[in-house]
Amino acid sequence: MCGIIGYIGEKEVVPILLAGLKRMEYRGYDSSGLAILGDDGIVVKKRIGKIAELEKEINGAKIPGWIGLGHTRWATHGIPSTNNAHPHRAKGGDLALIHNGIIENYSALRLDLTRKGHKFTTETDTETLIHLFQEYYRDCSLEEAVRMALKKVNGTYGIAVISRDEPDKIVVARMGSPIVLGLNKNENFVASDMAAFVEHTRDVIYLNDGEMATLYKDKIEQYSLEKEHIPLRVDRITFSVDQIEKGGFPHFMLKEIFEQPNTVEDAMRGRLLEDEGIAKLAGIEKHSKALTEAKRIIIVACGTSWHAAMVGEYMIEEFAKIPVEVEYASEFRYRDPIVEPGTIVIAISQSGETADTLAAMREAQRKGAVCLAICNVVGSTIAREADAGLYLYAGPEIGVASTKAFTSQITVLALIALFIGRRKRMSILDGREWVKEMKALPQKITQILEHNSIIKEIAEKFMNEKNCLYLGRGYNFPIALEGALKLKEISYIHAEGYPAAEMKHGPIALIDKNMPVVFIATKDATYEKIISNIEEVRARRGRVIAIATEGDEEIKEKAETVIYVPEVPHYLLPLVTVIPLQLLAYHIAVLRENDVDQPRNLAKSVTVE
Ligand code: AGP
Repeated sequence: MCGIIGYIGEKEVVPILLAGLKRMEYRGYDSSGLAILGDDGIVVKKRIGKIAELEKEINGAKIPGWIGLGHTRWATHGIPSTNNAHPHRAKGGDLALIHNGIIENYSALRLDLTRKGHKFTTETDTETLIHLFQEYYRDCSLEEAVRMALKKVNGTYGIAVISRDEPDKIVVARMGSPIVLGLNKNENFVASDMAAFVEHTRDVIYLNDGEMATLYKDKIEQYSLEKEHIPLRVDRITFSVDQIEKGGFPHFMLKEIFEQPNTVEDAMRGRLLEDEGIAKLAGIEKHSKALTEAKRIIIVACGTSWHAAMVGEYMIEEFAKIPVEVEYASEFRYRDPIVEPGTIVIAISQSGETADTLAAMREAQRKGAVCLAICNVVGSTIAREADAGLYLYAGPEIGVASTKAFTSQITVLALIALFIGRRKRMSILDGREWVKEMKALPQKITQILEHNSIIKEIAEKFMNEKNCLYLGRGYNFPIALEGALKLKEISYIHAEGYPAAEMKHGPIALIDKNMPVVFIATKDATYEKIISNIEEVRARRGRVIAIATEGDEEIKEKAETVIYVPEVPHYLLPLVTVIPLQLLAYHIAVLRENDVDQPRNLAKSVTVE
């Protein structure tokens, strides 16, 4: 979704906004713009394309001012164009607005405003908003005009507005889209993501839905849409600037893939007790009885988080013997789901801002379920609204294609399975074995990363393919789905993942010498079965790439290419078998000269429906 930033203070505004926009570029990157309020009124610069294009447009020109708004766009209403880029203006250019979200009733509002003589020059829903503010901005303060106008609005928004007539403030409001404020001496910030201003301040305020704030240079006032005063609650950011730098890697995605030995370790740090063979999860401890006695667990998520949820289903059902259902959040929220007493709902979201997952969790809460969350972004909306939850502690994930967050999500789900399993049926020996195996994972992932250059060579063989199938069984089935998603989203090659046995029921018709098939064929209970599936593909001259267990010589006869992973227990296989698939997709995308960190048409967190 879009990224917004606002600054009021004494420093030169343009460099601060441009740097902040670059930090949020992963949120949306089809066009961008700035609005600077100075002695000459509001100056707007905007341009289609990446922030670099906007920089060219500004071309180092000094735009004097003390207040500024910046926006990077992920188009929802109106094509990516310079004209549709934000900021949008009204009142002869004396009012400017940036917006992240969707105004659902914008066409009705626009019709009414047109009747009142307003002229619209863009296709965006956002332009309707600034004209609506203008409509109310008569004989009252900017915040009062915005507050009254927002009462007419249906939809989601994270906005910041400035006015030439009140050149000492930025007015912001939130409904459904993230807004975080940054506080510093004689300057204040607003942004969709704290990464945009972390190099200036670590003191932040998270706005909740239905809240507004007015930012002055030296103070912030927070209040509701009902005009109730809200005392400021300041939190402190924990991550550092270098965590949001590439650290010498060519892409954030590759850096994040190589961070996984540490991030998997960080996800379990202080949460595993070896002697007792248990998981200690303070974040959900108060719900341990409800979890252990749960009749049913529903996991809601989207995209890669949904694939992690599927692995969680396998683990919790096998070791805690509680029925688990994995639901697409977007379907769950509108399906009037059955949520009986004794149902626990787990929402999984890296960003903690995915609109469908947030709404699914709210729907479950409305139906009386205890809702736990597994999130990475500290202070995100899902994390704050859940009844309890666990953070991944994976640090900021900048690459749009999720990698380290995925393995950390699976690590945390393994901890939850152990947490419940040891309370219900697993013996202390089982538990100790589990803890020992989990603690060995970072080293094993490091071993796989040493194959990076081999995997790059394999990528060269498959970089021009048009299609690809990924097949796995059991715990590796969700990894087949994840491998296919990674390839799709960054290489733009059409790829599909299937349970290997499902292939015979249709997809096998796709197999010929031009169809690479990635088999996740590690040594586990279904090994013999998957070897037969490989034979079925070879019989139709499909090109087989196998992810296999170290020491498996037999598979070399069966596959054109083999990538080995260290041996682990079947329930931890996803944490090793996904690594080569992340690297394979990464190298194929780089070889195809795609923008790996910001793939076309995607955004890091999907804050609209
Ligand atoms: C994964 O690589 C994608 N970026 C996308 O599928 C993502 O997993 C999905 O949008 C869910 O995001 P979340 O975990 O932040 O909720």
